[in-house]
Amino acid sequence: MSFVSIEEMKKQGLFIDNVRAQIEGKGLKACVFTLGCQQNEADSERMRGILKSLGYEITYKEDEADLLLVNTCAIREHAERRALSIVGRYKHYKTKNPDLIIGVCGCMTAQEHRIEHFKHSYHYVDFVFGTGTMYRLPEYVSNALNKGKRLFTIDPQAPEIAEGIPVVRESNYKAWVSIMYGCNNFCTYCIVPYVRGRERSRKMSDILEEIRGLASEGYHDITLLGQNVNSYGKDLEGSPTIADLLNEIAKIDGDFLIHLMTSHPKDASDKMIEALKNNPHCANCFHLPLQSGSDAILKKMNRHYDTERYLSIIDKLRENREDMVLTTDIIVGFPGETDEDFEKTIEIIKKVKYDSIFSFIYSRRKGTPADKMEDHISEEIKHKRYDRLCEVQNEIAHELNAKYMGKILRVLVDGKSKNNESVYTSRTEGGKIVHFESDKDYTGQFITLKISRTDTFALYGEIYKD
Ligand code: 5AD
Ligand code: SF4
Repeated sequence: MSFVSIEEMKKQGLFIDNVRAQIEGKGLKACVFTLGCQQNEADSERMRGILKSLGYEITYKEDEADLLLVNTCAIREHAERRALSIVGRYKHYKTKNPDLIIGVCGCMTAQEHRIEHFKHSYHYVDFVFGTGTMYRLPEYVSNALNKGKRLFTIDPQAPEIAEGIPVVRESNYKAWVSIMYGCNNFCTYCIVPYVRGRERSRKMSDILEEIRGLASEGYHDITLLGQNVNSYGKDLEGSPTIADLLNEIAKIDGDFLIHLMTSHPKDASDKMIEALKNNPHCANCFHLPLQSGSDAILKKMNRHYDTERYLSIIDKLRENREDMVLTTDIIVGFPGETDEDFEKTIEIIKKVKYDSIFSFIYSRRKGTPADKMEDHISEEIKHKRYDRLCEVQNEIAHELNAKYMGKILRVLVDGKSKNNESVYTSRTEGGKIVHFESDKDYTGQFITLKISRTDTFALYGEIYKD
């Protein structure tokens, strides 16, 4: 595994010093807008850390920013369209304030054709870079401040890991910790391996240090991030595994829960499942993307498991803890998916009874093998299948949630509900949403609730006092 060199980090350090000196006392503000997954959220927190070290105050309001950065997503067409419309909207900010600096980064701009598009059609964008050169943000900002040429960086073939980047976390009780970057799996529908490069694992010692720090600062919820956390460590000296990492995390003191995001079924080992079981910090939930319930489609997706193997992992997870909350990802309308294939997905959904599923309509991604396959499914059929999947899942979720009636559960409070001022939202250890009323604000704390009502999408509770 290779890391960004000390010389390169020193070079960026000089840009940091220059920018700091240049903007000192001006009260400039920077805003990072994030689209996409938790990995992007985590990247944005690090970019905010860099911008803060440059002397910018971090704001979450676009209209008061002197520097705007859009961290884009490329997973589906809809995400890319949203990014284009957001960057499009920023044109009018630049017209009002010609000194405004605008940058675009992330998965979408790790694709050359997208870089070209921003270069030629968005003249007010100052710099564009992919996912592999975030550590060069000081250089990009310095160049833009000094009215240098617009910069468009194509990601390196083999991006490196940059340690030591400061982080401005959005929450003071929930944290993302990337344990690895990139993906080697090349599922035929997916753009991620092309925009995030091959798997690179962070050293176990760096990860453990970060988690120890979070635990001592009182963080209660830590998600270990990677496209496929089950293959953690394969590229490191001594090949430590995710099980080894979890076993080390188990030794860390603190009142915190650990979640994993995401696991690939083909790499879900017995050792990893055992390590989850023996770790008091590991939450009783597991996200195991199925994608399709048809073995023929799984093969075409290049997933390297069949439904029998998948179901055996589910059984083992449930043996660990019978109250295990299970979630999954499903794609409907993959090229060539027949009604029979789709019914097989429905069958598994009914068999496993997931607490919730993230369902997606297949979206063609330029450069992926599935895009070139024949038998693309019509939008109408895709939407019909999607609606039916949601209908089936909603019934299951309703039934599973009803079983929580009367239970006494520890939850972590997330804050006031968006719709009702006197209602708070919280999550169980397994990630289920529980709403409750309270005069006191317990945000960021664990409290105990008694469940008094349930519906398809949430549980409702009252503060429990023994
Ligand atoms: N179309 C639809 N969904 C996709 N996903 C990945 N690529 C695509 C695509 N081209 C889904 C998968 C993955 C989740 C993060 O996004 O289900 O697990
Ligand atoms: Fe995409 Fe498959 Fe890698 Fe997940 S494992 S990021 S779905 S290629």
